[in-house]
Amino acid sequence: MANMMELVHDFFRLPIEDRSVYYAEDSSSKFRMGTSFIPSKETRRMWQDYLHQACYPPCEIAQLPTKPPSYVKIWTAYAEAMNRLAKRVLGLFSESLGLESGALEEAFGGERHAMRMNYYPPCPEPELTIGLDAHADPNGFTILQQDTRVKDGLQILHCGAWVPIKPLPGAFVVNIGDQLQILSNDAYKSVEHRAVVNSERTRVSIASFYGPAEDSHIAPLAQLVADEAPACFKESVYGNYLQSFYASKLDGKAAIETVRY
Ligand code: OGA
Ligand code: NI
Repeated sequence: MANMMELVHDFFRLPIEDRSVYYAEDSSSKFRMGTSFIPSKETRRMWQDYLHQACYPPCEIAQLPTKPPSYVKIWTAYAEAMNRLAKRVLGLFSESLGLESGALEEAFGGERHAMRMNYYPPCPEPELTIGLDAHADPNGFTILQQDTRVKDGLQILHCGAWVPIKPLPGAFVVNIGDQLQILSNDAYKSVEHRAVVNSERTRVSIASFYGPAEDSHIAPLAQLVADEAPACFKESVYGNYLQSFYASKLDGKAAIETVRY
């Protein structure tokens, strides 16, 4: 965790010439640097840059940065550990729904695992902007590592109020995403969250997005649907859901409402 956190800080400290070669706006590129979310669709830019990287299916090693020199080694170890952790968490989510531990894994029909490494520089007037606008993650669930040097960054919407989620050393935050809400037929709710910025310190967060294979058809699990509990969501192909998410600006929980009956 510490190595990965330093690696992201070090990457964004590189001169812009070393980083800008990775800049891409195409959300299907498997390794890219970006700024804000979809700059062309936004009326205000968010105060952040990011690196997006596919973990599984993976990107080519040749696409990855050669600076910092430890990038591939540290990132590979981290992504493998996150993948193992995600599989364990997925089994626990199944059990918590009263199902066999492999039920959600089976419904995922494979996996899509990607990372977003967020970089929020200090902002002279933080109240005039936002780091990352309110949204729910479109995937199954997200394992988020926060920068313990910055106290306020991630906030979740709880009972109509924004609640800060303080980073705990050595701990991850697990955020429920839309696919888990759909599969669980509304038993789990994807969490609406955002990131704020501050005037003093750079903040980094590392999000590991875990979800179904892109060609999987996702609908409420049959075991959780009954006459008295009808399906709340229509079936959708996960890859299509992601495409429309990445084609729209961030807008709270708007995405999941498009597949609700
Ligand atoms: C995200 C995200 C929050 C944060 O990358 O999806 O919600 O704390 N990040 O940076
Ligand atoms: Ni998020």
